[in-house]
Amino acid sequence: MESELLLRTEGVRKSFEGTPVLSGISLELRAGEILGLVGENGAGKSTFVKCLLGLHRPDSGSITFLGRDLLRTGPAGIAAIPQEFNLVKDLTVAENIFLGREPGRFGFLNRSLMRSESRRLLQKLDVEIDPERKIDSLSVAEKQMVEIAKALSVDCRLLIMDEPTTVLNQKESAILFRIMRELKAGGTSILFISHRLEEIRTICDRVAVLRDGVLVSCDPAESLDAMEIARRMVGRELKQMFPPTVPPSGPPLLTVENLSSGKEVKHVSFELQAGITGLAGLAGAGRTELAETICALRKRSSGSVKLAGETLHLRKPADALAHGIVYLSEDRQGSGILTEFPLDRNVTLSSLRRYCHAGIINREAERACAESYVKKFRIKTASLETELKYLSGGNQQKVALAKCLDNCPRVFLFDEPTRGVDIGARSDLYEFIRELAASGVACLLISSDLEEIIGMCDRVLVMRAGELAGTLEKEHVTEEEIMYLATGVN
Ligand SMILES: Nc1ncnc2c1ncn2[C@@H]1O[C@H](COP(=O)(O)OP(=O)(O)OP(=O)(O)O)[C@@H](O)[C@H]1O
Ligand SMILES: [Mg+2]
Repeated sequence: MESELLLRTEGVRKSFEGTPVLSGISLELRAGEILGLVGENGAGKSTFVKCLLGLHRPDSGSITFLGRDLLRTGPAGIAAIPQEFNLVKDLTVAENIFLGREPGRFGFLNRSLMRSESRRLLQKLDVEIDPERKIDSLSVAEKQMVEIAKALSVDCRLLIMDEPTTVLNQKESAILFRIMRELKAGGTSILFISHRLEEIRTICDRVAVLRDGVLVSCDPAESLDAMEIARRMVGRELKQMFPPTVPPSGPPLLTVENLSSGKEVKHVSFELQAGITGLAGLAGAGRTELAETICALRKRSSGSVKLAGETLHLRKPADALAHGIVYLSEDRQGSGILTEFPLDRNVTLSSLRRYCHAGIINREAERACAESYVKKFRIKTASLETELKYLSGGNQQKVALAKCLDNCPRVFLFDEPTRGVDIGARSDLYEFIRELAASGVACLLISSDLEEIIGMCDRVLVMRAGELAGTLEKEHVTEEEIMYLATGVN
C-alpha cells in the first residue's frame, strides 16, 4: 500500500523581474519518502525550496502540505537546512541551535538545558563541538554540522536539505545518511539536494530532475545511474570528465621550506613547479591552514616562502597577491566574495588597482573584464550589476574563482574549487585549470574528492596531522596509496 501523501505542488511558477526561474513544477512527496532534487547551478532548486518555506511566494500554482493550503497556513511542520549558512557569527553554537525559541519556563532562558540539548544533538551527529564555542571559531564542516543539528532539533514531518553534504567528508556524510534513514523509518519525509550524483542514487527513493526551471523527470532512483541523471540535468551528452593531466615541470616556482603555523602546520617543505600538483589529506590534516600560511592569511611560526628562488616577506594577504600568489578559499561565504556587492565589482575586488588611473576607476574596463568571465564560465546572472546574493550558490562559486583569476596568478592555490558546482560546469572548470597550468602557472589543487585528485594530478602531496606525510607520483597516485599516507594505516 502506498503511504500517505504529504506534499503536493501543482504548477508552481516563479519569475524574478520577468525572468522565469520555475516554470510550473508539479511534484508529490509521500510520508517516509526521500526525494532527491538535482539540476545544474541555477536550475531553480533553491528557489523551489524557498517557495515551500514561504520565503518566496509563487506567482501561480498551489502547494498542499498535510492536506492544507501551505500558501495560506505557512510552512509549519517543515524544517530546513539552507544552502547558505544562516548562523549568527557572534553567538555560541547552543544559542544558534535554539535561536528564536530558547527553551525555558516562565519566560526565563534555561541555558543549561540549551547546552545539554545541543550536546545531545551534536553527539547524535558524532561530532565533538563544544556548545559554548562561538560560530566564528568553527570550520566550514563544523558550521554545517551545527545547521544540521539545528534542523534536527525541530519536530517536523518534512525535512528539506539543500546541499548539506557539499562541505562534508565521506565519514560525516555517512553519519548524515544514517540519520536520514532513521528519520525515514520514523515516517519523516526528506527533500534532498546534492550535486554528488552517486550519493543521490544511494540515499533517495526517487529522483526529480530540474532543468532551467522545468521538471524533466521524476523516477525511482534504482532505475537511474549517475550518468543518466547527469544527461537529464544538462540535456546533452557530457564530455569526458577529466582532461589530460599537466605534470609539474620546469624550475620550482614556489619553494616552501620548514613552514609552521601553531599546531596546525608543522615543518612543511615542498616545491611547486608549473603544472598541477594535488594536496590530499583527511579533514583537519592542515591543508587549508597550510595554504593560508603560504599566502599570509595565517601567521607563520617558522620557515620561509620563495617565489622563483627569491625569499618573500609576506605580512598580509595583499602582499601575496602582489606577487601573484592567489588563494581560492574553501569558505566562499566567509572570505571569498561580498554578496551585497554587484557581480562586476566582486570580480575586480582584489585586482582593482589594475582598473584605476589617477584614482579613477575605469568602469568600462571593469565591466568588460566581468563580462568575459561570465561568458567563459557560463555564469548564470540577470546582469553584470546583479548583487551576488541573487545568484545561485554554484554561480557564486564561479564568481569567487573569477575574482582570484583576475590577479594574473603565477601560483594558484585552489581549495576545494568544485564544491557545489554542477557536473557539467565541473568539467569546464577542470579544463580551465588544465589550461592555466599548461600556460605556466603552478597550480595546487586541494581536494577531499579523491576521484578529482587522481583524475587531475600526476603528483600528489599528502598531509597528515599538520605534517607532510609524503609525495606520490604517476602510477602511485591511487586511492590506496593516498589513504595510506593520509591515515598511516594500511
Ligand atoms: N531573489 C532573486 N532575485 C533574482 N534572481 C534570483 C533570485 N533568487 C534566485 N534567482 C535566480 O534564479 C535562478 C535559480 O537560482 P537557484 O538558487 O534556485 O538555483 P539552484 O538550482 O539552487 O542552483 P545551485 O546548484 O547553484 O545552488 C538563478 O539564475 C538565480 O540567479
Ligand atoms: Mg541552490
